[in-house]
Amino acid sequence: MDRLIIRGGIPLRGEVEAAGAKNAALPEMVASLLTGESIQLHRVPQLGDVKTTIGLLSHLGVSVERRDRETLFLRADRISRFEAPYQLVKTMRASVLVLGPLLARFGRARVSLPGGCAIGTRPINLHLAALEKMGATVSLDAGYVEAKAPRLRGARITFDGQTVTGTENLMMAATLADGVTVLENAACEPEVADLAALLIRMGARIEGVGTPTISIEGVDHLHGAEHEVIPDRVETGTFMVVAAITGGDVTINRCVPCHLEAITEKLQETGVIVEETDWSIRVCGDGRVQGINIRTHPYPGFATDMQAQFMALMAIAQGSSVITETVFENRFMHVNELLRMGADIKVIGTTAFVQGVPMLSGAPVMATDLRASASLVLAGLAAQGITTVSRVYHLDRGYESIEQKLLGLGANIERVTE
Ligand code: EPU
Repeated sequence: MDRLIIRGGIPLRGEVEAAGAKNAALPEMVASLLTGESIQLHRVPQLGDVKTTIGLLSHLGVSVERRDRETLFLRADRISRFEAPYQLVKTMRASVLVLGPLLARFGRARVSLPGGCAIGTRPINLHLAALEKMGATVSLDAGYVEAKAPRLRGARITFDGQTVTGTENLMMAATLADGVTVLENAACEPEVADLAALLIRMGARIEGVGTPTISIEGVDHLHGAEHEVIPDRVETGTFMVVAAITGGDVTINRCVPCHLEAITEKLQETGVIVEETDWSIRVCGDGRVQGINIRTHPYPGFATDMQAQFMALMAIAQGSSVITETVFENRFMHVNELLRMGADIKVIGTTAFVQGVPMLSGAPVMATDLRASASLVLAGLAAQGITTVSRVYHLDRGYESIEQKLLGLGANIERVTE
């Protein structure tokens, strides 16, 4: 297992390029199941979760070819299996995204029910209830969800709560259904909109993308398409915090600043300078930031995927801050590790009370999920002394070449493989 060794205290400076978005690339790769023709995806990041998705799609019979570093060709003309096995769903919950497309195109799907996870219980009841509304028969057998439907039919579905992958699963299912499906209280995340853009290129009829009401008119067939994945707003946001937490000056290129408005506003509130062009963001830190309060929300609110990184920043801010997590019930796994580095944080329920300290000190730490690991890397970059971050495979699931990018900004960071 790899570890990252970070010697902190260096202000990071320079330019870095955003990778393609993990949470757009995964559903878009899965969307290839909706047609027997080729899907060509550009700007697919090289990540653990992309590898897992290639494994899952190959298991189903999709041919997947990486022609160059960033381009994938996917062709689902010989599907031989209709099941996402436990082994894969357990490592990556986004595997449940195959449910909608398999059911819509082949009339059947069997997907292992994801168990609990490091950040919360994360059930898929909303996906299943919505598919049932479209006429699917859903049953549970030996830990697997089995869904069947000769042909899904359009329906009006109001989600009980906003769900990103639930919206994506249903949107994909509805593209090949009989009639019109209206999704109410749908997720508005840019990754959902980007998936819709690909589906429209494949011949789907979708309206209301980016709003809570999405309407999909089913068609008989979808065809091949070429599409470029949007930039990763969470990776971009993480590098914005890199500049703020180290008192550095970092420009992130090839990003979409308007996808990060809530993050930018909060960073400005801490006192750092943020400058934007249409496709780049520059963040200049200058001494200790101010403590601020944060509450996570679905898009366009402050993303839960940025909460851990901001907590590392607040740990060394001037004054106190209150961070409330409203999306997942257990997303404070980084707190105990930050405490080991000298942070002063108290958690009551889903709220963390952070009293900023002047300095963190390096320590051996590890985390149990992706964004928590990112927050420990950030804390390590700011801390005095050496921080060793273990279980780097969590980071590798969602950040492309993170230590290479940080090295390029002047960090003292090294990967050690045991
Ligand atoms: N929920 C239910 N029932 C459902 C579905 C969701 O109760 O059927 C609850 C969840 O337990 C959670 C809330 O609804 O409390 C929101 O969950 P959502 O379904 O939106 O999350 P997701 O689709 O499983 C995606 C991202 C996550 C990101 C969340 C929230 C992908 C592949 N994953 O997960 O990304 O945190 O939306 O924005 O798109 C990450 O990249 O680190 C990551 C965890």
